[in-house]
Amino acid sequence: KESIVKLLESHIRNVPDFPKTGIQFKDITPLLKNPDTLELTSQVLARPFRHSNIDHVIGLESRGFLFGTNLAQDLHAGFVPIRKPDKLPAEVISSSYELEYGTDTIEMHADALSEGDRVIIHDDLIATGGSAKAATELVEKLGAVVVGYSFIIELAALQGKDILKPDTDIDILVSI
Ligand code: PRP
Ligand code: MG
Repeated sequence: KESIVKLLESHIRNVPDFPKTGIQFKDITPLLKNPDTLELTSQVLARPFRHSNIDHVIGLESRGFLFGTNLAQDLHAGFVPIRKPDKLPAEVISSSYELEYGTDTIEMHADALSEGDRVIIHDDLIATGGSAKAATELVEKLGAVVVGYSFIIELAALQGKDILKPDTDIDILVSI
């Protein structure tokens, strides 16, 4: 594997039994703490989309905010946050998705995107894909186009990619 990706991968910490027994938490704080990996991460994330004419990077609260704005800057795109309910101040649109128990809702400002805008959806990690799929629905409600997805980490066994929009670029730095 490419040495830069190896370097980035070595700054992702596995924390066993967090937040619950049996869960292996993938912690990106070492990646953020080191000035070189902080800078490199967004550059490597931007690389596959450099020539895709991206208007906006959509970042998912909260860990999708950490590299989302840097990624947007590196693509010379704008940044749009998707937030948990009742956090955004102006008019919102919302989308709900199933969890193991119950449902979760995410929101975006109703004027965040315009028809035909080309966007990528970014998050630190894809597990089931439920949140990225719900984000896709919000983008499409406003008539914008999901060109691709950008994740630092994929939990491959959960096959979250399978429920994302087909025929898009799904970029993953580290598949675990
Ligand atoms: C985690 C992770 C992704 C999401 C992935 O966020 O940061 O956003 O879960 O899961 P999915 O693919 O099954 O939807 P979390 O809900 O822990 O919140 P946080 O980012 O605010 O810490
Ligand atoms: Mg998250």
